[in-house]
Amino acid sequence: MKAQEMEKANIQERKIPAAKIQFLPEDRAWITERIAEVLESGQLTLGKYGAEFERRFADLCGVRHGVAVNSGTSAMEIILRAAGVEGREVIVPTNTFFATAAAVLHAGARPVFIDMDPETFAVKPEDVEAAITPDTAAIVVVHIGGIVTHRMPELLAIAARRGLPLLEDAAHAHGSSFEGVRAGAFGLAGAFSFYPTKVMTSGEGGMIVTNDDRIAEEARIYRDQGKASFTVNAHVRLGYNWRMSEPHAIIGLKHLERLPQMIADRRRIAAYYDRALASFNNLDVVRPAEDGVSNYYKYMAVLRESRDRKALKMELRERYGVSLSGEVYEEPLHRQPVFAAYATRELPVAEDYCARQICLPVYSGMDEAEAQQVVEALASVIG
Ligand SMILES: Cc1ncc(COP(=O)(O)O)c(C=O)c1O
Repeated sequence: MKAQEMEKANIQERKIPAAKIQFLPEDRAWITERIAEVLESGQLTLGKYGAEFERRFADLCGVRHGVAVNSGTSAMEIILRAAGVEGREVIVPTNTFFATAAAVLHAGARPVFIDMDPETFAVKPEDVEAAITPDTAAIVVVHIGGIVTHRMPELLAIAARRGLPLLEDAAHAHGSSFEGVRAGAFGLAGAFSFYPTKVMTSGEGGMIVTNDDRIAEEARIYRDQGKASFTVNAHVRLGYNWRMSEPHAIIGLKHLERLPQMIADRRRIAAYYDRALASFNNLDVVRPAEDGVSNYYKYMAVLRESRDRKALKMELRERYGVSLSGEVYEEPLHRQPVFAAYATRELPVAEDYCARQICLPVYSGMDEAEAQQVVEALASVIG
């Protein structure tokens, strides 16, 4: 085989995964050492590593409080409960993950689904305003794919004018910002996820961030079985076991330290895609605002012409070794069977965009040769 042909065969054999988790050997050693330490000490939950993780994550977001929990889902439910939504309505986007709306129901409220802004994949202030009723208890904004919408100031203004808390589902947005304000720091409180596919992980885990002393206090009560305090056995809220263990906090601390580099890696690949995809005729890229910084949890693009996405993904994977990452989202929530009772109307923008949207692989440690393979595969398949 000639060198050129060999090179081509090698490239096609190389598989580009949808996502990849990176723990460097020295980081694995650091984590292992500290897990051994907490196993030795027996302080396996609500200990010094959890407290340090909370402090450092709050610093990242530029807020006063961090409260570590065992998932992004519980972080979301806790901030909803702490905001007092029970028995009322909460406005949520339809193009989000199941857990955003499920947390509303678990907190005893009813989700009111609204449509999406095709430019940012977030909600539009007009749609939020139109959905507010006397029963509205809160507005949830989700930073889809890591992009904070440039319309955040308008959303905050509506929330302030109508006297409603704005809550951020920031599960995608560790380190993202708009006009210098970090995701999680805009509203009354923010909920982050450290699920393994996220930009940073603690294995499983979540974090509540807030500048509000009362919300922070409530969150600490809720996450520990509704107990008034760690040492007092008075159960003052219907809490749950939502605590984060020390081994999870240790893993999260190390990934948090690596976050700037991991985001830089993702942004480098995103810049490569931006340049390479500019000439494509059938693909529009979803870009962060000029004054915004995305962590590129997802590199989101939209097919101009509708295609059979399953077949497209299979062709990319089987012929070119390229796995696309999961959509955000494949199906809007008002079309999910479990939320049928809350699907009161059609939401045509999300129905259209969710069907045409794809996410390119992007992960820390990805190199330009891999990104090039993705672009070439896409060029062959969609052009
Ligand atoms: C938008 C959104 N909200 C909430 C969650 C729930 O987070 P977790 O899986 O950590 O419970 C996720 C992710 O999994 C998510 O993508």
